[in-house]
Amino acid sequence: MALQLPPLALYIHIPWCIQKCPYCDFNSHAVKQGIPEQEYIAHLLADLEQDLPLVTGRSLSSIFIGGGTPSVFSAAGISQILTGVKQRLNCDADMEVTMEANPGTVEAERFAAYVQAGVTRFSIGVQSFQTAQLQALGRIHDSGEAIRAAQLAQNLPLDSFNLDLMHGLPQQDVSGALADLQQAIDLAPPHLSWYQLTIEPNTAFASRPPVLPPDDTLWDIQQQGLALLQQHGYQQYEISAYSQPGHQCKHNLNYWRYGDYLGIGCGAHGKITLPSRNAILRTVKIKHPKGYMDISRGYMDSREQVEAEDRPFEFFMNRFRLLEPCPIADFTAYTGLPLSTVTSAISDAGQKGLLSVSATHWQVTDKGARYLNDLLTLFI
Ligand SMILES: C[S@@+](CC[C@H](N)C(=O)[O-])C[C@H]1O[C@@H](n2cnc3c(N)ncnc32)[C@H](O)[C@@H]1O
Ligand code: SF4
Repeated sequence: MALQLPPLALYIHIPWCIQKCPYCDFNSHAVKQGIPEQEYIAHLLADLEQDLPLVTGRSLSSIFIGGGTPSVFSAAGISQILTGVKQRLNCDADMEVTMEANPGTVEAERFAAYVQAGVTRFSIGVQSFQTAQLQALGRIHDSGEAIRAAQLAQNLPLDSFNLDLMHGLPQQDVSGALADLQQAIDLAPPHLSWYQLTIEPNTAFASRPPVLPPDDTLWDIQQQGLALLQQHGYQQYEISAYSQPGHQCKHNLNYWRYGDYLGIGCGAHGKITLPSRNAILRTVKIKHPKGYMDISRGYMDSREQVEAEDRPFEFFMNRFRLLEPCPIADFTAYTGLPLSTVTSAISDAGQKGLLSVSATHWQVTDKGARYLNDLLTLFI
């Protein structure tokens, strides 16, 4: 079975933040002695150059500048990065360019200039609108700044914008979580990411765990929050992602549909299909900024092929996070494997009520979404 090329995206990692939040395990470092912006941009573009032979002749459908906090970079810096990318790679005419931004006043002042630089979509990290919660989360903005940032985004010539909000926060009750969600909805973002706070290993919260709401409160928040979002026209399309019709995040959809992406910058991951070699490559760049910018080492930390036996699990792990039906033909096209590889697991999943199967599509059932791990285990 010949592998086919899925759409191609580009992830760009900016590894600095003003300060480290106690719940965060992303590859981000508090700025201590200023940010080496120009030096890092030169490395990002050199890193991209080295990846180019992997994607000859292909065109980008989306770019995501994530972090860390990309809005610690100047608008001129973001413009240099995007110009540099466009000089080196073909880009689709309707390419989505998302940039994560924090709602602090300084960043918000730059929003218009980021749009001038080529950003078409902001993802704004609000987390909560309640001052006490924001403080407990170690955030450096207040709720007024979050509201102003969202209002600013509304009035800019953007294709879309997203607000990141978390729930299940320390000592939060159902009404507190719903008040946050209602405030976010009032700001009319076309996209909302609504994450349940998780305590990640090696974070400040893991060493000094806060008191989290009990499981039945978390369940009520989830159910009542979903109903509130639906009342206001938001459709859930992934575990934590909700959007108005037509405003799903193209970049994230591509990951979950097992699309390809280059990853440049500290610790960035990439996945590239090479049909001529019947190979799927996974790349990881050097994680720490110091090592990454040490020219003697190059940028690549690891570069490995996804073996045929690992492809079904990888494919479904991504694909079944989405609530949309999965075209059966995508399995063979993007894994290069015959359908017979998974026939028995699919039929098992159907019998257990985790999946419904039509002639053309697989659809995760409500039960399958709730017991996603049980469903995925069938493909190991
Ligand atoms: C890469 S982070 C960063 C964006 C930006 N730096 C910020 O914090 O606003 C993307 C989002 O993941 C969510 N997130 C991070 N850590 C989390 C955790 N431990 N549990 C749940 N959500 C988390 C937050 O909503 C955050 O905005
Ligand atoms: S949550 Fe965002 S701002 Fe906070 S440390 Fe992580 S990446 Fe930085």
